[in-house]
Amino acid sequence: MHESLLSPQLVQAAYVVASVLFILALGGLSNVESAKRAVWYGIVGMVLAILATVLGPGIGGYPAIAGAMAVAAVIGAIVAMRVQMTSMPQLVAALHSFVGLAAVFIGLNAELEAQHVLAALAQGATPESFTGFAGKIAHKSAVELDIMKVEAFLGIYIGALTFTGSVVAFGKLAGKITGKPWKLPGGHFWNASLTVAALAMGGLYFADIGGIWPMVVNAVLAGIVGWHLVMGIGGADMPVVVSMLNSYSGWAAAAVGFTLGNDLLIITGALVGSSGAILSYIMCKAMNRSFISVILGGFGGDGTPAAEGPEGEMVPIDADSVAQLLQDADNIVIVPGYGMAVAQAQQSVASLVSRLRKQGKNVRFAIHPVAGRLPGHMNVLLAEARVPYDIVLEMDEINEDFPDTDVTMVIGANDIVNPAALEDPNSPIAGMPVLEVWKSSHVIVLKRGRGTGYAGIQNPLFFRENTRLFFGDARASIDELLKRID
Ligand code: TAP
Repeated sequence: MHESLLSPQLVQAAYVVASVLFILALGGLSNVESAKRAVWYGIVGMVLAILATVLGPGIGGYPAIAGAMAVAAVIGAIVAMRVQMTSMPQLVAALHSFVGLAAVFIGLNAELEAQHVLAALAQGATPESFTGFAGKIAHKSAVELDIMKVEAFLGIYIGALTFTGSVVAFGKLAGKITGKPWKLPGGHFWNASLTVAALAMGGLYFADIGGIWPMVVNAVLAGIVGWHLVMGIGGADMPVVVSMLNSYSGWAAAAVGFTLGNDLLIITGALVGSSGAILSYIMCKAMNRSFISVILGGFGGDGTPAAEGPEGEMVPIDADSVAQLLQDADNIVIVPGYGMAVAQAQQSVASLVSRLRKQGKNVRFAIHPVAGRLPGHMNVLLAEARVPYDIVLEMDEINEDFPDTDVTMVIGANDIVNPAALEDPNSPIAGMPVLEVWKSSHVIVLKRGRGTGYAGIQNPLFFRENTRLFFGDARASIDELLKRID
């Protein structure tokens, strides 16, 4: 038996502390002010969890583990430092794919280990002669071994589906795969048939036919389902898909936790699984999409403008006139969107807001739940630019105030201020709650040209009588205003 540095009791105690830290981390992340502390809870919890697991009973081969961890830590640190804020969703998708792949490998490995142990027991070995995970298997009853098979089957199926689904989500978000929904002829018939085939593999596995192979085929079938499922979902629904895959990766980890008999993995997997599911639900509600309709493939394009749609004249405005409008206004609302993130305009926006506030104007930010490209994207950028939290309002808190607003500045936002969502039942985003900016006296839209938003559809807001287009890169445009407003 490997000499373990920590006793099982100490490992369990560390797991309890780590679980509490993970729960505190999740709780704290829901509020901008406590989020920084929450991240530290998560970091400390994870370090504790890794140390307790590696130094606990049944683990050997420390040089190999240390080497793998060092290489992974260096790669992780480099990737995290280099990633742009706008590329965060695809990084998250890529990381989920690793969780899925790990679940597949652990599930297959657990089955190989079980076969090895059971063969040795059949030849007269005693359960006491096994240590670590093999020892746990050797002491299991027939029923417990069957339950372990269910866990391994689920872990491998969900893990493989998460792996390929996340790889496709990464490709779509990074623009390496078309954002348009794509399905094989027959669509969801394939997903259903492949799942039935995977269940049949599960049947062979329980009947002890074919050794490890039914589980390998199960992984391949689930992988094809994951690929096909996410290929069939439109680009605009990707945030929901990423959070759904986050949830799946949690359930895969929980299933693996049951297989390995690791309580912390079960708790952590369940936390990730349920928080991802809740986030998916919140996002679906914010876009007025049912979860099922997202999964069955929805709207979204690759950025090419829709052929149909309202056309009209976009009336441009220059920096002098925008500055004058702002000087004359008392109530100003700023709606930031993906373009503000692309332009990295948040610091300039914060400076402009602070100057306008010093002049006694009521300036507030209106944040749509899916503005930008990841949940909380705008809040993070504004917090980074030190915008006071109390003037950053969520959609529900500010949507009724637009009729009393003198000037609304839409900075690089498009889909989230599209009136077609409420007025055109045939619009691909019909029913999605949007910020009703057109109700304010003047609307200034900052954008570079005639590009569409993420959903790839035309926006009638740009042709309204009270809308003016302030063309140019958002940061350069705001800097022009800063030259004119003290
Ligand atoms: P979008 O609808 O994507 O619109 C972005 C606008 O910014 C475009 O009109 C673009 O027009 C403009 N723009 C781009 N770069 C700019 C720059 N450097 N300076 C000035 N303007 C610039 O953004 P949104 O309104 O924030 O809506 C978010 C969309 O993304 C929704 O459809 C949502 O479903 C989807 N989505 C959300 C998330 C989450 S969770 N937030 C994740 C993935 C996808 P020009 O090209 O003409 O400049």
